[in-house]
Parts: sequence; C-alpha cells; structure tokens
Amino acid sequence: MTATRNAPPLQGKRLLLCIGGGIAAYKALELVRRLREAGAQVQVAMTAGAQQFVTPLSFQALSGLPVRTSLWDSAAEQAMGHIELARWADRVVIAPATADLLARLAHGLADDLVATLCLATTAPLTVAPAMNHRMWLHPATQANLQTLRQRGVQVIGPVDGPLAEGESGPGRLSEPEAIVAALVQAGEDIGDEAAPAFAPSGELLAGQRVLISAGPTYEDLDPVRYLGNRSSGKMGYALAAAAAAQGAQVVLVSGPVSLATPPGVERIDVRSAAQMREAVLAAMPADIYIGAAAVADYTPVKVAAQKIKKSGQSLTLEFVRTPDILAEVAAQTQSLKLVVGFAAETHDIERYARAKLTDKRLDLIIANQVGVADGGFESDQNAATAYWADGERVFPATSKTRLAEQLLELIAQRLQA
Ligand code: C5P
Repeated sequence: MTATRNAPPLQGKRLLLCIGGGIAAYKALELVRRLREAGAQVQVAMTAGAQQFVTPLSFQALSGLPVRTSLWDSAAEQAMGHIELARWADRVVIAPATADLLARLAHGLADDLVATLCLATTAPLTVAPAMNHRMWLHPATQANLQTLRQRGVQVIGPVDGPLAEGESGPGRLSEPEAIVAALVQAGEDIGDEAAPAFAPSGELLAGQRVLISAGPTYEDLDPVRYLGNRSSGKMGYALAAAAAAQGAQVVLVSGPVSLATPPGVERIDVRSAAQMREAVLAAMPADIYIGAAAVADYTPVKVAAQKIKKSGQSLTLEFVRTPDILAEVAAQTQSLKLVVGFAAETHDIERYARAKLTDKRLDLIIANQVGVADGGFESDQNAATAYWADGERVFPATSKTRLAEQLLELIAQRLQA
C-alpha cells in the first residue's frame, strides 16, 4: 500500500459509487459517509431507479461532489465527460446492485450512465447486490453473477435476513461497515496500487505477449478431497497486473485462488497440474513465459470415483510425477524470447536456484526463501534474488506489487540482453 501506517485505509483512493434502484439505496448514504471517513474521494452516479428512492441532493450533501444522473446532462458532461469519469476512478463500486443492473453488466450493455461507466472503465469493479431473495436465487441472476465473478468482479454479500417486503432470505445489502472492510481488503489483496491509476504505467513490454502461470494446483484424490498447497497466487497476479500496466498482452493461467483478475488481463482458470499444462500449451505462442505457479510435483495415480472411506490405521496412496510445465515450455524455443521460473527454497537458495536455471533451460530464475516470517506463500510481502547465467540481483523485502514491478523492469532489460 502506498498509504502510511496511520493513514485512513482508503486514503486518496478515488471511488466511483454507482447507486442502483432498490430500497437499499438509502443505506448507500451511510456508505458514502463511511467511505469518506476511510479517506476515499467519492463520486456518486445514480440510475433513474435509484433516484426514485433517494434524491441526488442527499448524496451530493454527503459526498461533497455533484451527483451524476444522466448521460445526456450537457453541463455535467462539460465539467467531466463520462469517459473521463470512468478513467478517473481507481475502483468502481455498485451498491446496491439490483438484479437488472447485474444483468446489464454481465451482458455489456451501455443503456444508461451507470452501465456506460462500468463498460468504459478499466478500474476494478465491486458489486454489493441487494434484491428480493427469489430474484437473487433465480438461475438468471446467478448465471449473471458467475459471469461477473469470472471477469474478476468482487461481489460483496448479499446477507441473509428480513427483506423489505416482509419476507426473509438472502438479499439484504451488506452493512456499509462490511462493504468498506471488503474494499480495504480487496485493495490489499493485490495492492490497489496495481490498478492503472497507481501502477507505473509505461511501454516497457508493449507488443509482447506474456503468459503467466499463478496460484496452486489441486490434485483430486476423490470427489471431496484434494492435495493442494499454500500458494495464494498473489505474486503471479501482481506480475500480471504489472505486465499489463507496461503495455503487454497478458494471459494468466490461474490455479484456484480468491483474487480479482487484474484489469486488462485475460484469465484462464484451471484446477490440476494436468489442466494447467494443457491451458499453458494452448495459450502459446508467447514472447515471455513466467512460471509463477506452485505446481504440484505429484498427482494420485487414480482419482477414486467415490469418497475414500476410513478403514485400518493407515492409508497408502500412490502418486506419480506431474509434467514439468516450465521445462516443457522452455524446450519450445520457436517463439519464446524469455522464460522465467520461480524457486521457492528453504535453504541453499542460490545452489538450488542455479541448478533449476540450467536443468530447466531458463533465462531467469526468481528465488525466494519460504518458511520465514513475512515472506513467501501467503504473505503480502516478499524478498527475492534473481539469477541468470552471468548475473544476479537482490530485491529486498517489499510488497508483492512493488516487487512485481521491479521484476518486470528486470525482465524487460533481460529481453534486450
Ligand atoms: O522444480 P521446482 O518445482 O522447484 O521449480 C519451480 C518452478 O517450476 C516454478 O517456476 C514452477 O512454476 C515450475 N514448475 C512447473 N511444473 C511443475 C513443477 C514446477 O512449471 N510440475
């Protein structure tokens, strides 16, 4: 985070808060107050429906900024055009997000100001849905939500409880406090500074197709169990964000993680090492391959068709080696200009890292120590040393976002070498 230790958690963040047309719109007034307390600048835009529940004037009084209500308001457009407003935002938040608004977003409509802003922005999007519980549970709404999630949209709530019509169920807007906490968390997960307004954007990788693997793999043992690992995917996602900010065309092949897709990145979700290999090879050719995933080394010889029942005091399962994706990619030299691997080691870091550099025929390896406090798999921080055939560079502990930016600068340099 760029904010200092005691600064409010959303200090300086520019939030575009879009209000949908539901009774929960009144709660968004309190949300504006809390977001401002948390240090954010809040620009409000309202749908026509939202204005039936709360007046723009109420939001204006709380946000301290004129409220946007229409695409066709020439005075407002002259002050700041809607495309400019979409670019201004570090994050777009929709609260409450109605079933109709979710459907319009899922289908990429631009039939009013709010939908147009959402389509025109490259900032990450957060939705806090609120609606009648039958509308929420309807397969159409759930399918739209699935589409939005796959696109990396952060979904907060709804929560279970009494609804406006005297019914009860999932459909209540999350409390403003919970929405603020989730936004702060989302910023920290991949570092909001990775979003375009904060990341050093440039042209270092313009025209390059960068393929990145990230996260863990899960090897299924039976229909309910799997063998996984503690990789959070944060490093790979930060690299994808930083590469996109440097003008690259980025494809991110991701194991199971709970991170939002960085803006401008094409994400392909996989589960097992075999699926990751298939997705990576299918996404080739690329100019640069970065293997940041923690790929399982072994997978069960067979996946039990039914849940493995307890019997006896011990259980023996047989595993086979997974294919080494990185080595296989590195062997395909036709299009690749640079192949980068990661080495997570607990000891003898340089020796093991250099051995991998040669054995897997890599151009660059990024080694870091795991099993230490404040670094490695689940941490937001990381320190690393990069090794290449005739050189090395130490990167002291910093946020994974910042480290990713520094690593990409090195990658761009090695590309020229
Ligand atoms: O050999 P080791 O697993 O330590 O090497 C780590 C590097 O190799 C990482 O870049 C990881 O993404 C990659 N790897 C792979 N396929 C495997 C195992 C590791 O691509 N099956």
